Amino acid sequence: MDAIEVNDLTKRFNSKGSLAAVDHLSFCVAEGEIFGLLGPNGAGKTTLIKILTTLLKPTSGMATVAGYDVRREKNRVRESIGIVFQEPALDWRLTGRENLDFHARMYGITRGEREKRIEEALKLVELEDKADIVTDKYSSGMKRRLEIARGFIHNPQVLFLDEPTLGLDTQTKRKIWDYIKELNARERITIVLTTHQMDEADYLCDRVGIMDHGKIIALDTPRNLKDLISSDLVSLELNMEGSSNDVEVFKSLDFVTEFREQNGFVTLKMERADLRIPAIMEVAKRAGLEIISVNLRKPSLEDVFLHFTGRKIRE
Ligand SMILES: Nc1ncnc2c1ncn2[C@@H]1O[C@H](COP(=O)(O)OP(=O)(O)O)[C@@H](O)[C@H]1O
Ligand SMILES: [Mg+2]
Repeated sequence: MDAIEVNDLTKRFNSKGSLAAVDHLSFCVAEGEIFGLLGPNGAGKTTLIKILTTLLKPTSGMATVAGYDVRREKNRVRESIGIVFQEPALDWRLTGRENLDFHARMYGITRGEREKRIEEALKLVELEDKADIVTDKYSSGMKRRLEIARGFIHNPQVLFLDEPTLGLDTQTKRKIWDYIKELNARERITIVLTTHQMDEADYLCDRVGIMDHGKIIALDTPRNLKDLISSDLVSLELNMEGSSNDVEVFKSLDFVTEFREQNGFVTLKMERADLRIPAIMEVAKRAGLEIISVNLRKPSLEDVFLHFTGRKIRE
């Protein structure tokens, strides 16, 4: 069974005819997967998460989470999931530990189990030292970490994270990425996260759905998505004082689809450049060209978004 099944799901906020925030979506998320929804502001990511977490009613279509229907089995769905939303939802007057305890009680977790789970959760997000401070005094990074701990304290089957690292500094962001990976690996929790940061989707997700205007325009592993673009760029810096400067020799390589040269810098366009470097080096060597440096640029998910929509994700 898939952790999530979405079939022809649509959400319109206004009367008929208006644009759909979620537009006839169909996809599945496998158990144990880290699944990312990547898209610019307004793409419909939060709306989709709200439907899957039963906070919003879809206009049409269906969705199941952990096998339960988000319309007809709301309580079952709620028992099976954890949620971390963009807006903070901690009680600032309580300590970190109290926040977790309160949440675990609401899920009816027994005292002994609660203590054990709270210790483990605090440890994972490295807040053991700060557990007994009121969360009002926490930095934004600490708050987010505590919210992630709270999101999984009751052992959900599926954890939803809406823009989990939005507004955090790079260092905190990296830490949160590590917690998410560890949580997924250790507890086999299925994780669905939204982001507009390609590096986040690329680093964390097993599969990514690229969202725009309520639709998923591409869905695959980050690797396969980037292979869709398939043109890598290899830049070579050559020593023009060397014994040869027959730079045109690279044109003889049949996998090179584009060749540019300027002041000893050669740029070659090709597919799967990672497999081509040896052949490039060999040709240079035979032609007596001295290569000072090699740079390989892989296409990013940004390039994929650009490919499908004709614009940059950040615009
Ligand atoms: N409560 C609402 N009422 C009306 N329109 C909404 C509401 N929430 C979201 N929208 C609209 O739905 C679209 C998708 O928004 P949202 O799901 O928040 O996108 P994202 O999370 O990808 O930034 C946007 O055009 C937004 O203005
Ligand atoms: Mg959003």
